[in-house]
Amino acid sequence: MNLLKIDNIQYSYGKKTPFKKAALKNISLEIGSNEFIGIIGHTGSGKSTLLKICNGLLKPDKGRILYKGKDVWGKEFNLKHLHFEVGVSFQYPEHQLFCETVKKDIAYGLVNKGVPSEEQEEKIKQVLKIVGLQESYLKKSPFKLSGGEMRKVALAGTMVLEPEVLILDEPTAGLDPKTTKQVYESLKEYQNKTKSSIIVVSHSMEDVSEYAKRLIVLDDGNLLLSGTPAQVFSNAEKLRDAGLDVPITTSILNMLAQENLSVNTNIYRYEDTKNEIIRLLKDVN
Ligand SMILES: Nc1ncnc2c1ncn2[C@@H]1O[C@H](COP(=O)(O)OP(=O)(O)O)[C@@H](O)[C@H]1O
Ligand SMILES: [Mg+2]
Repeated sequence: MNLLKIDNIQYSYGKKTPFKKAALKNISLEIGSNEFIGIIGHTGSGKSTLLKICNGLLKPDKGRILYKGKDVWGKEFNLKHLHFEVGVSFQYPEHQLFCETVKKDIAYGLVNKGVPSEEQEEKIKQVLKIVGLQESYLKKSPFKLSGGEMRKVALAGTMVLEPEVLILDEPTAGLDPKTTKQVYESLKEYQNKTKSSIIVVSHSMEDVSEYAKRLIVLDDGNLLLSGTPAQVFSNAEKLRDAGLDVPITTSILNMLAQENLSVNTNIYRYEDTKNEIIRLLKDVN
């Protein structure tokens, strides 16, 4: 069964004002368990709005959201339950750090959720390991950390709640390539441990396609494309019309194909692309 089903959702901001803006026009989407999904789209395409719809922060004007088959806006459903099961980490989550120690910040959601303190300790240690911070960090003030470390603490605070669906809005925005890779690797490790589903919103085709198994492309509030990265990147023109581009890896292979070289253009991961180019060079010689 699907964990989350988004069924014909519409959402507008500024309803009943002259500034009414249709942010999501008609979106349907199903999210199963243990998925790694990337959501891509130009600024203003509706990505953040969709995330807020997914965890019940915004109520759709039309359509339904089903969590494990139950209508989350139905009378019997407890929306608080959805906030815990579909955990969202918003853009620049480190701006929401406010406790005097890293430990208290990570524990904040656990306390809210009513997790006993003995269990909290163990969970915090596990999640700290996943994001790659040493236990000595627990006593530190989050405000004395580097930007990348603060981001990791903020992500740990969402991960520690072990939501069934973990949604991250631009988790690597503003991070250097090394920290970006560490964040994605920690998401992968988190998923291996918890078997949860992960949805990442990203501007970077390169980063997201390296990890996501399914991509969803939004364009001006519409769902433009959905499929495996290879399927989505085979629509280079549609992507370009939506102000997006295929990853640089696919782009290079497409250019080689245009030179009449026999090259596999369905590749997008860095390692695969490197191997394909090496193979091509060997064939040419
Ligand atoms: N609080 C808001 N009030 C009015 N319009 C908004 C608000 N938030 C977003 N929008 C508009 O809704 C559309 C979708 O925004 P958003 O979901 O934030 O897109 P994205 O995350 O893809 O950049 C944009 O046109 C944006 O300007
Ligand atoms: Mg956004």
